[in-house]
Amino acid sequence: MKRMPVRILMVCLGNICRSPLAEGILKKYVDSDWVFVASAGTASYHVGAAPDKRSVAIGLKNGVDIGHQRARMFSINDFDVFDHIYVMDDSNYKDVIALAPNKKVASKVELILNHHPDTSAQRSVPDPYYGGADGFELVYDLLDKACIAIAESL
Ligand code: 4NP
Repeated sequence: MKRMPVRILMVCLGNICRSPLAEGILKKYVDSDWVFVASAGTASYHVGAAPDKRSVAIGLKNGVDIGHQRARMFSINDFDVFDHIYVMDDSNYKDVIALAPNKKVASKVELILNHHPDTSAQRSVPDPYYGGADGFELVYDLLDKACIAIAESL
């Protein structure tokens, strides 16, 4: 049977810390011939910018190069393009859902940590922007576990 291509969008606030890592990590675990992964932010502050250097560093430490990515803003058109829209926290969820034109497309939006294998783990990927390097370690670890589970479910 022919596999249908799957399109997945990772969304955070600025598209420079969490969702670029989520994009890079999931790409590591899927076949790029049939799974397309991208990321976007709900805010415009960093449009066109490279990922935060702390995200780039934790990625490289784990064999994930995200340095080529550039931030873009989530657009209503993304509801048509993507099959799954994974958001990092409740605030991203609220912002994205507010743009959904109907319930059918709203059902594509989900907290990424709903896929974390440890059901007692936190449900939000904490915003690491104003914190230190250990915040980025935690973000990487949470996203890595969720992305492995997502890749296995495809
Ligand atoms: P991100 O982190 O949503 O994971 O990309 C942030 C990046 C920038 C800002 C906030 C969060 N900011 O306020 O500029």
